[in-house]
Amino acid sequence: MSRTFAAAGDGPLVLVLHGPNLGALGRRDPGLYGTLDLDQIMRRLAELAGELGLRLEGLQSDREGELVEALLAAAGRGVAAAVLNPGALAHTSYAVRDAVEAAGVPVVEVHLSNVHARERWRHHLAIAPAAAGVVAGFGPASYDLGLRAAADLLGRRP
Ligand code: DQA
Repeated sequence: MSRTFAAAGDGPLVLVLHGPNLGALGRRDPGLYGTLDLDQIMRRLAELAGELGLRLEGLQSDREGELVEALLAAAGRGVAAAVLNPGALAHTSYAVRDAVEAAGVPVVEVHLSNVHARERWRHHLAIAPAAAGVVAGFGPASYDLGLRAAADLLGRRP
């Protein structure tokens, strides 16, 4: 499955990418990932984007290749920065890592949960070395902090 969130707002365009299984937020292990669904997370982020003077658009995809394509197309479509929650691909995907490297725009990696405090296999972050930085463990606020970091990288400090 994949789902897009149409661009809204004014200013530099930031693309928010959500990887596999994140379309199930709200009903997927709420003790770990919280009770907000993706719509609610994107609404919160859109509000913050307005305050930061950013235009926001989103894509959730369960397919690695679709995330790769979105990253490779980003700069050519005028995307200035991206916020990426790769889901479990964070731990395995050198294809997404290469795409982050090739994207030509800063990418901030975010995780709702503190992956470092979870199973050992989640401690390895395959994409993170190519990211501008990583925010993990703050629930939906991880996305907010990731967007603030993107704004900072774009010189949009409020
Ligand atoms: C996640 C952490 C990953 O380990 C997991 O596979 C996810 C969600 C997070 O946001 O905490 O799907 O990226």
